[in-house]
Amino acid sequence: MTQHLSSTQDIPEFSAIPRHVAIIMDGNGRWAGKRMMPRVAGHSEGLSAVRKIVQECHRSGVQYLTIFAFSSENWRRPPEEVGFLMKLFLKSLKGEVARLVENDICLRVIGDLSRFDPAIQEMVQFSQEKTAGCKAITLTVAANYGGRWDILQAMRRCLEVNPNLKPEQVTEELLAPHLSMAYAPEPDLFIRTGGEQRVSNFLLWQLAYTELYFTDILWPEFDELELRKAFHWFSQRERRFGRTSAQLASQALSDAV
Ligand code: IPE
Ligand code: IPE
Ligand code: MG
Repeated sequence: MTQHLSSTQDIPEFSAIPRHVAIIMDGNGRWAGKRMMPRVAGHSEGLSAVRKIVQECHRSGVQYLTIFAFSSENWRRPPEEVGFLMKLFLKSLKGEVARLVENDICLRVIGDLSRFDPAIQEMVQFSQEKTAGCKAITLTVAANYGGRWDILQAMRRCLEVNPNLKPEQVTEELLAPHLSMAYAPEPDLFIRTGGEQRVSNFLLWQLAYTELYFTDILWPEFDELELRKAFHWFSQRERRFGRTSAQLASQALSDAV
């Protein structure tokens, strides 16, 4: 497995198109409410937006796309909505796997899958195996995922592997390989639709130096044009990773020579 260094240890290479995009797809319920439709209709519509955005990321050269489908806190929703989301997850896994393979898209699912129905767990396993050799883009779906859960499970696994670890021996390098997305570099760009400006327990560790983009557009309306707007905004950012602007300018000058 490729080991990606954390942004606090190494400065990642810059490119105008983000290598890794992480999205909180928010606003499905409000999209439906505005149309006098039940909330769940917004979730179905949201799935069409997912297809569009995966394709556009693929076309643009994004290598990793990570989407938040269900948080560890979303179990608090009414049981009918949770049940609908579970059915939709299973249906979309079944319906999309052939298309993923055809488009060379590798699927990974992160989160505590043990709470899901066995049929979902099996389908996740099957879809991951079927797409394991795909190389064009890695699509990660975060399901029953929480950033705090991720850090805790990584800590537990780290202690399992190194049972005699002393507190002073705990380092980023030792912990990071146990995080559930250790196969990917940290996200360059985070997008949250739906107008809220919060992280809602998404990738807490991995967002340390990610550029954060918030838009009022509701997820079912987020399309290729909106994604390109986010990429344009990203390309204008000065990613300093702790350094000064003057240091960046002199590095750009020496790179040019
Ligand atoms: C995001 O949309 C989808 C999930 C959390 C599954 P919401 O369902 O949160 O939509 P709003 O925020 O209520 O509009
Ligand atoms: C975050 O959206 C989770 C997903 C998009 C899956 P929420 O709608 O659950 O977030 P909060 O509750 O508004 O913070
Ligand atoms: Mg929401």
